[in-house]
Amino acid sequence: MTLPTYRSILLRVAAAALALAALAGTAAFLVEVEIADARVSDLAKHESAAFLADARDALSADSGARAGDLLHRFMRGRAESGRAEADGTFIVAELYDAAQAKTAEYVAPGAEWAEERLKGGGHQFPLPGEFRYERFHVDGVIFIQTIEPLLDRQGRILGYFESVFRLSPERSDEIVKDTAMVVAVSTLSVLAAALVLLPIFVAFNRGVMGLSRRLLDANVEILTVLGSAIAKRDSDTHAHNYRVTILAIRLAEAMGFDADAIRRLVKGAFLHDVGKIAIPDRILLKPGKLDAAEFAEMKTHVAHGLDILKSSAWLADAADVVGGHHEKFDGSGYPAGLAGEAIPAAARVFAIADVFDALTSRRPYKEPMPFAQAMAILHDGAGRHFDPAMLARFAAIAEDLHARLTALGDAGVDEELRRLVGHYFATP
Ligand SMILES: [Fe+2]
Repeated sequence: MTLPTYRSILLRVAAAALALAALAGTAAFLVEVEIADARVSDLAKHESAAFLADARDALSADSGARAGDLLHRFMRGRAESGRAEADGTFIVAELYDAAQAKTAEYVAPGAEWAEERLKGGGHQFPLPGEFRYERFHVDGVIFIQTIEPLLDRQGRILGYFESVFRLSPERSDEIVKDTAMVVAVSTLSVLAAALVLLPIFVAFNRGVMGLSRRLLDANVEILTVLGSAIAKRDSDTHAHNYRVTILAIRLAEAMGFDADAIRRLVKGAFLHDVGKIAIPDRILLKPGKLDAAEFAEMKTHVAHGLDILKSSAWLADAADVVGGHHEKFDGSGYPAGLAGEAIPAAARVFAIADVFDALTSRRPYKEPMPFAQAMAILHDGAGRHFDPAMLARFAAIAEDLHARLTALGDAGVDEELRRLVGHYFATP
């Protein structure tokens, strides 16, 4: 299990805040465009209502020619008035009668292109009370095309008023600036909220991480306690267990194992013989050689070990070493008689470390074997007991490693292992 680092939490919170800010900014932009549309169409409606106030009587009297005159007079008047210029101005206006036939048209000088656009667009005449509009941009200038019914005082359709309204540069700027301001404010608000909440979040998280770390420490402690307990029962020293674990970690590092594989190897190294708890003392502690029946029973410690691991999801990672630490490269080992790479890599690494330390360490009944002699025995087992490629890698690092472990002594080995386990298991 790897716990997240503060840095990765900060990065995740920052990424979430930026994503939220982008969402808020986009939503604010869409709302602002909607508001801008409403403003622009209100301006257009206002202008057409002003025209209708002048022209309603002429239109009611079905005087198309007079309505056309009024349209031209009105448009020229608006174009010349300061108020219309402040908001913008109609550059095209067209009148249709109730039968949807065009009766009059006004095109401001230079706005013929807009009139072409109306012709090309096709007409969808609105129902009474309906107002259709479409916003478009040309060279950064906002235009709005409108069409609305002109109604008499009884609400009957007199005709239709179609127009193209050009927003003044001041109004266009205002809308663009308002939109940019709302987007900026909403984005900054989200980021500011994230900044304020971040320390609170980090403090909560620190508490959770502290608990996780204590849980991990407790798990590692159980691992060492179980390993030491079985070593005691086997009349072995826990120092052997610790040295084997260090040797196995160093060989695994030299073989390029990733951190997760090394964590599994460490668990396996501590627990490799945990199944010996189920072997009777008369066999486990027998001073002489085991007979065939006794040896057969001794072999069951592998199956017992795997059985014990089943009770813990965290310890189950040790299964590769526990199940494979008596397999041999040529297939002559037990319990499955696996050969070559069918034996889990962690178990192949462990076998080299275990035999090397058994040979070179002091026991009540023997002196340590000299380094060169131990290596000769290992080389003799290359391809039979041991993976030859792994053994070659081990031979390259073994002398320095052995000298260092010998110099450290039992207390120093404890300290070294604690440091290594801390490195692989603790929160980075
Ligand atoms: Fe064993």
